Amino acid sequence: MINISKMENMPKDGPRSPLEPIPETALPLPFDDYFLSSLKPSDFPRLVELYNSDLAFILLSPPYPYTFDDAQWFNDNRAHTRFPSYPETQEAWVIRSKPHNGILVGICGTHPVPGQSGHHFKLGYFLAPEFRGKGIMPTVVTEVLKKFPGAIFDAEAEVANLGSQKVLEKCGFQYIEGGNFEETWPVSKGGEVRQILKFVKQC
Ligand SMILES: CC(C)(COP(=O)(O)OP(=O)(O)OC[C@H]1O[C@@H](n2cnc3c(N)ncnc32)[C@H](O)[C@@H]1OP(=O)(O)O)[C@@H](O)C(=O)NCCC(=O)NCCS
Repeated sequence: MINISKMENMPKDGPRSPLEPIPETALPLPFDDYFLSSLKPSDFPRLVELYNSDLAFILLSPPYPYTFDDAQWFNDNRAHTRFPSYPETQEAWVIRSKPHNGILVGICGTHPVPGQSGHHFKLGYFLAPEFRGKGIMPTVVTEVLKKFPGAIFDAEAEVANLGSQKVLEKCGFQYIEGGNFEETWPVSKGGEVRQILKFVKQC
């Protein structure tokens, strides 16, 4: 779950120029039907579909209703961000299913923490509803974090989101005692003041 305003992170010189996609990453057995790649414009309708599904009420930062323009903005400004200290990395790791013609199954985000050393990131992730509960995300996070040796990753999960907490525990994140905080969700995204737990991992 990421809580970063779009505009704060907009490059001052406008959208970044297109970059070559980084090489695809295979997932180990038994998840070899899935692989990681980069975001493509052909994914935009799928992002619109998913961010307007139950994810609208689970994830705080994506706009809602989520539009094609939001997907374009994410592609142009965030998804392909490269990290000089970590070769062949990017901000948005798109999880795809081979048997479903490479459809976007979910995203694992490795978001830079602003003002930090370039070694400090915040993790975020989601899967499409039909791909949850199969053990995919712990494998994805494990593979992605291997690409960031020495980095520190923060992560957050709602108290009620036991599935997300389990992913973090399985991937070696530590719960930060006393780090809990409250976050007010926009009314359009379900409202409520929600209890958030904080986790951290040194890669
Ligand atoms: C959270 C999410 C990424 C987990 O990924 P996943 O690949 O489905 O994770 P897993 O299949 O390994 O399941 C995680 C574990 O949580 C458990 N779990 C899932 N939902 C649960 C629930 N409501 N109550 C208790 N346990 C639950 C699963 O049984 C599994 O535990 P196990 O391995 O001991 O059986 C995925 O469910 C998702 O995308 N959810 C919606 C978006 C979201 O919540 N993103 C995170 C925001 S912080």
